Amino acid sequence: MPTILLLNGPNLNLLGTREPATYGYTTLADVENESRAHAQKLGFELEAFQSNHEGALIDKIHEAGRRFKAGEITGVLFNAGAYTHTSVALHDAIAGVKPLPVIEVHISNVHAREAFRHHSYISPVAAGIVVGFGTDGYLLGIEGLARKAKASAAAAPKP
Ligand code: DQA
Repeated sequence: MPTILLLNGPNLNLLGTREPATYGYTTLADVENESRAHAQKLGFELEAFQSNHEGALIDKIHEAGRRFKAGEITGVLFNAGAYTHTSVALHDAIAGVKPLPVIEVHISNVHAREAFRHHSYISPVAAGIVVGFGTDGYLLGIEGLARKAKASAAAAPKP
């Protein structure tokens, strides 16, 4: 089955107990399970990975790029957490594995928060962005990725 990779960055392992007024009470395990169920409804398998380490996230993106070329991965849903606002290295990793589609997700509306959250190094290399829908944003991102995959399959030249 075509596979979507769900990547979560730093501090997202604390979902459910971390600043609940901003991020809610849904845990990362809940997010991963709900995302998998939603992906399966749309005909995709879902693999989930979380890390607090920038290099581990970069390695996963490189691996996803290789698996995309091999036809094993449809795309990536990525909440880079605070690395969104700091990481040129993650920007370069995503740029380096194009055309792998990476959808940027944020639980909170980062634009309604502190100024340092208004800039994203991920957005210029993202295939789409979902911001401010709480943890439902992961489901919306999966929906978007599935639609993009179907649209590009329909547009591909027939053998
Ligand atoms: C976040 C927003 C980031 O600014 C923050 O550092 C996070 C979570 C979100 O999902 O709303 O860790 O990416």
